[in-house]
Amino acid sequence: MDKLFAVGNYLKYRIKSGTAHDVHSPFVFDLLNNVIHDQAQFYCYGPLESLRSKLLLDQRTIQVSDFGAVSTGKKVTKKISTIAKNSLQEKKYAQLIFRLVNFSNAKNILELGTSLGLTTLYIANAAKKSRIITMEGCPEIAKLQLRISIK
Ligand SMILES: C[S@@+](CC[C@H](N)C(=O)[O-])C[C@H]1O[C@@H](n2cnc3c(N)ncnc32)[C@H](O)[C@@H]1O
Repeated sequence: MDKLFAVGNYLKYRIKSGTAHDVHSPFVFDLLNNVIHDQAQFYCYGPLESLRSKLLLDQRTIQVSDFGAVSTGKKVTKKISTIAKNSLQEKKYAQLIFRLVNFSNAKNILELGTSLGLTTLYIANAAKKSRIITMEGCPEIAKLQLRISIK
């Protein structure tokens, strides 16, 4: 019965939602067209995704402090490739964050949980003149420095 209800609600939503052209708020229209549905390939995407590929192959290990909700406080040895696989934002979300930051024109940005810093680099490329603070609790992860040059 619950499933039937959910399907009914979804169909109602699809019928009512229409397309971006049915949206009357210029802000929401812009957000939908230029951020959410934007398929453009920005120049920084290539080098940043190459960096992700390198991290996914990086066999070095580090001692990682576990900051999860059920943290035991113990350190565990992890490969950088494993951290890259499990912790980094997926490409589609990192690129959505890039477009959101670009759209927002924020002057000050705070990121909680840097991990390997790939999303930080996406943010930095979207907001070259902004002040960005990113915080990472695990000292070994924070010590890793990603460097990339994009002109
Ligand atoms: C899912 S990862 C972040 C991914 C990264 N923002 C990205 O998009 O690629 C979460 C990170 O937050 C850090 N973290 C989690 N809880 C924390 C806390 N309470 N204080 C500081 N850092 C924390 C973890 O060590 C981990 O590196």
